[in-house]
Amino acid sequence: TMWTRALWMLLLLCKFSLAVLPAKPENISCVFYYEENFTCTWSPEKEASYTWYKVKRTYSYGYKSDICPTDNSTRGNASCSFLPPTITNPDNYTIQVEAQNADGIIKSDITHWNLDAIMKIEPPEIFSAKSVLGIKRMLQIKWKRPVLAPLSSTLKYTLRFRTVNSAHWMEVNFTKEDIDRDETYNLTGLQAFTEYVVALRCAPAESMFWSGWSQEKVGTTEEEAPYGLDLWRVLRPAKFDGRRPVQLMWKKASGAPVLEKALGYNIWYFPENYTNLTETVNTTNQTHELYLGGKTHWVYVISYNSLGESPVATLRIPAIDEKL
Ligand SMILES: *[C@@H]1O[C@H](CO)[C@@H](O)[C@H](O)[C@H]1NC(C)=O
Ligand SMILES: *[C@@H]1O[C@H](CO)[C@@H](O)[C@H](O)[C@H]1NC(C)=O
Ligand SMILES: *[C@@H]1O[C@H](CO)[C@@H](O)[C@H](O)[C@H]1NC(C)=O
Ligand SMILES: *[C@@H]1O[C@H](CO)[C@@H](O)[C@H](O)[C@H]1NC(C)=O
Ligand SMILES: *[C@@H]1O[C@H](CO)[C@@H](O)[C@H](O)[C@H]1NC(C)=O
Ligand SMILES: *[C@@H]1O[C@H](CO)[C@@H](O)[C@H](O)[C@H]1NC(C)=O
Ligand SMILES: *[C@@H]1O[C@H](CO)[C@@H](O)[C@H](O)[C@H]1NC(C)=O
Ligand SMILES: *[C@@H]1O[C@H](CO)[C@@H](O)[C@H](O)[C@H]1NC(C)=O
Ligand SMILES: *[C@@H]1O[C@H](CO)[C@@H](O)[C@H](O)[C@H]1NC(C)=O
Ligand SMILES: *[C@@H]1O[C@H](CO)[C@@H](O)[C@H](O)[C@H]1NC(C)=O
Ligand SMILES: *[C@@H]1O[C@H](CO)[C@@H](O)[C@H](O)[C@H]1NC(C)=O
Repeated sequence: TMWTRALWMLLLLCKFSLAVLPAKPENISCVFYYEENFTCTWSPEKEASYTWYKVKRTYSYGYKSDICPTDNSTRGNASCSFLPPTITNPDNYTIQVEAQNADGIIKSDITHWNLDAIMKIEPPEIFSAKSVLGIKRMLQIKWKRPVLAPLSSTLKYTLRFRTVNSAHWMEVNFTKEDIDRDETYNLTGLQAFTEYVVALRCAPAESMFWSGWSQEKVGTTEEEAPYGLDLWRVLRPAKFDGRRPVQLMWKKASGAPVLEKALGYNIWYFPENYTNLTETVNTTNQTHELYLGGKTHWVYVISYNSLGESPVATLRIPAIDEKL
């Protein structure tokens, strides 16, 4: 009858919809954590029904094969690790993943892995980032090559750096042969007397995987002699005794490095054509009051720090009777 046929159809549909093979494992990706393990992951990460995976490897250039060791707790994970001592290097592996559930097995494509190209090592350890005496606008970075890195191989590095107040990293790439455990890099072209944050990462030259970033280190470049001053003044009415108060003021020239440091200022001044009447004042203030006679005067100011003096800033104070 119609009814029994309909029932049959329903049962068939149910049966059909229940028999669902797992998805074919795709996007297999393997990383060789140097001397630690060889780990492959794949997608999908989660299956609707309980699925377990078998990861088949050939190694020793195809002469040997095995299956990734799993226990019941990790069989459902889309990841598996081969551990030493069967991690051979250099070597080319093939990896194939089989997904199995109650309804059957499905196999991934066979993938090929050249261990040198997928090797991942530990980050290097920076132990200093310092200026070198007498060398401006440079930091010398010193670090230790990772202990777990292939001895003979050249490592490539990315050094990233930023000023402490900036969020924007800049970077340089370079390579180092394995000469020493302790390595050095001169980071040049920096701003004077500025604090920088630096970090390093590395990878074997042939590998596509970088280590993580090292811990950050902070270093300050050498200071420079002051750059220059902007100088101006406020004239006040002469006192009854004829002395004129003149308020001198100065600041770092526009364009001078922000962190440039001045220890103090030297001021000297004299009436025009009478340098034998020169007077000097030293101060750490950025303003100073002079009492001048009615004649034309010349005033000079420089700033200084431990590295030297700025260029001279000059100001002419007109005579009291001069037409302005
Ligand atoms: C594999 O990766 C590709 C590209 O990243 C993506 O489009 C695809 O959905 C992934 N396959 C699975 C099964 O996740
Ligand atoms: C593989 O090695 C990496 C790096 O040392 C580690 O983070 C990871 O947990 C290891 N995986 C296994 C399964 O041992
Ligand atoms: C792992 O699972 C299988 C089948 O599900 C079971 O026969 C076996 O006893 C389990 N092994 C352990 C160590 O739990
Ligand atoms: C995957 O493995 C971790 C331990 O490595 C375990 O805690 C987790 O439950 C596993 N997930 C599945 C889906 O089996
Ligand atoms: C692994 O295979 C690649 C080509 O797939 C080859 O270039 C490379 O030399 C092989 N590696 C070794 C160690 O033989
Ligand atoms: C440094 O290398 C990385 C990775 O190869 C690349 O993305 C980056 O653009 C390089 N940076 C410079 C400044 O060359
Ligand atoms: C870094 O700079 C210092 C000082 O100029 C110099 O002695 C040293 O050789 C340089 N090192 C490198 C690796 O260039
Ligand atoms: C200073 O000397 C110059 C030339 O010797 C002269 O022209 C000028 O008037 C003098 N100025 C004063 C204030 O005496
Ligand atoms: C400064 O020099 C002028 C001549 O140039 C002279 O008349 C004057 O007496 C001198 N003053 C002092 C304090 O030496
Ligand atoms: C100011 O300092 C300069 C050197 O920096 C020195 O030659 C001069 O004698 C000092 N003057 C005073 C008034 O202390
Ligand atoms: C600097 O300024 C302060 C107050 O403005 C003043 O007490 C001090 O004497 C000044 N120092 C010099 C060297 O002029």
